[in-house]
Amino acid sequence: MHILAIESSCDETAAAVLFYDEKSSKKSLLSSVVVSQIDIFKAYGGVIPEVAARSHLEAILPVIHKALTDAFPNKTEPEAWKLIDYLAVTNTPGLLGSLLIGTLTARTLSILHNIPLYPIHHLKSHIYSAFLASGEKAPFEEDPELQRGLAPEPRNDGSEGRASKTDFRPQASETVALVVSGGHTQLIYMPSPTSFKIIGTTLDDAVGEAFDKIAKILGLPYPGGPSISVAAKTGDPEKYHFPHPNVKDLDFSFSGLKTAVLRTVQKELSLPLNYPSHDIKNLLSPEQVADFAASFQRTAVDILIEKLSLALKKYPDVNNVVIAGGVSANEELRKRIALKNPKKPNIFFPEKRFSGDNAAMVALPALSEILSGIPPSDPYSLKTLPHTPIS
Ligand code: KG4
Ligand code: ZN
Repeated sequence: MHILAIESSCDETAAAVLFYDEKSSKKSLLSSVVVSQIDIFKAYGGVIPEVAARSHLEAILPVIHKALTDAFPNKTEPEAWKLIDYLAVTNTPGLLGSLLIGTLTARTLSILHNIPLYPIHHLKSHIYSAFLASGEKAPFEEDPELQRGLAPEPRNDGSEGRASKTDFRPQASETVALVVSGGHTQLIYMPSPTSFKIIGTTLDDAVGEAFDKIAKILGLPYPGGPSISVAAKTGDPEKYHFPHPNVKDLDFSFSGLKTAVLRTVQKELSLPLNYPSHDIKNLLSPEQVADFAASFQRTAVDILIEKLSLALKKYPDVNNVVIAGGVSANEELRKRIALKNPKKPNIFFPEKRFSGDNAAMVALPALSEILSGIPPSDPYSLKTLPHTPIS
């Protein structure tokens, strides 16, 4: 079966085609097209929702066209559409204007080509992104052998959801996911492949947002994560010590860390508190920028590892850890995570090309739902929601 997936929740317009061979249960990614608006937002130092939505509007149809022609180079577009069995789209959470473009496009295509449509939660896609490259099933997925025959028939007459769910599911292994991006910092416990329970969340800024804001203070380009990582390479991570937030249980907070870095920079340069933060960058030497970048990155990664370790203590039966989302590309996080976990759970990261927003990752939870017999949504009434907790 072929799934065409669409993603437009923030500032990437993306489409991908995933092929799933029902005989061998193997997946292969036939195409993945991502058009990023990073170059536009470099000028502003962050995403402007209205501009993002307009850019999606311009890019979405050419991106889908390219995903189809990359996947089926010898077919005409009408022939390619006939090969698509399912559509999947991110409909929540994200920037409303951005989500609307992808969702409305997917709804229209679903109606036009009579293809069942699966709405997908953005954080589920990030969690599944760790299993895109291998083509194998995720360890928390159920055995497709046992699911075969449960999938609803695609494209019959609108009664796609008739397949029944079975009560005889094998026990899948327990997983904790740490989703870290520009909009989210959450710990999610998955007792089974299709149940998601938020066990920790940020009370203020997301960790990626903190990277972006600190980068702005230090005069490093947007997005802040990659540029802080590069600057940190030549810096001393022990030069400055920033306090860890005093937040209960598995919750996070990053706004205090941002203020702590700002105050330390002001102190280092003997500046008054009301000195405009956007002018500070002109006063910092490259060495100071590198040391602040390295010390901030060390603290942010420490906080993430600390909370993840606590989650593993609280959920002793967890044997899989997934770390995903834009910040999961961070080298320091990838290097240090393994050393800190005496329980030695399996740790999965997405390939770096799949850590940021893309559509390939959207196809995987859709595939899981299709194989589980979950019915598609009605394209005439599918909602676009900026805030929905994963569940
Ligand atoms: O998942 P994503 O592409 O979009 C959202 O859903 O937010 O994540 C983007 C975030 C940005 O805040 C960016 O600065 C951060 O991921 N990021 C990184 C790295 N690469 C991207 N943060 C730390 N280290 C990186 N190497
Ligand atoms: Zn994302």
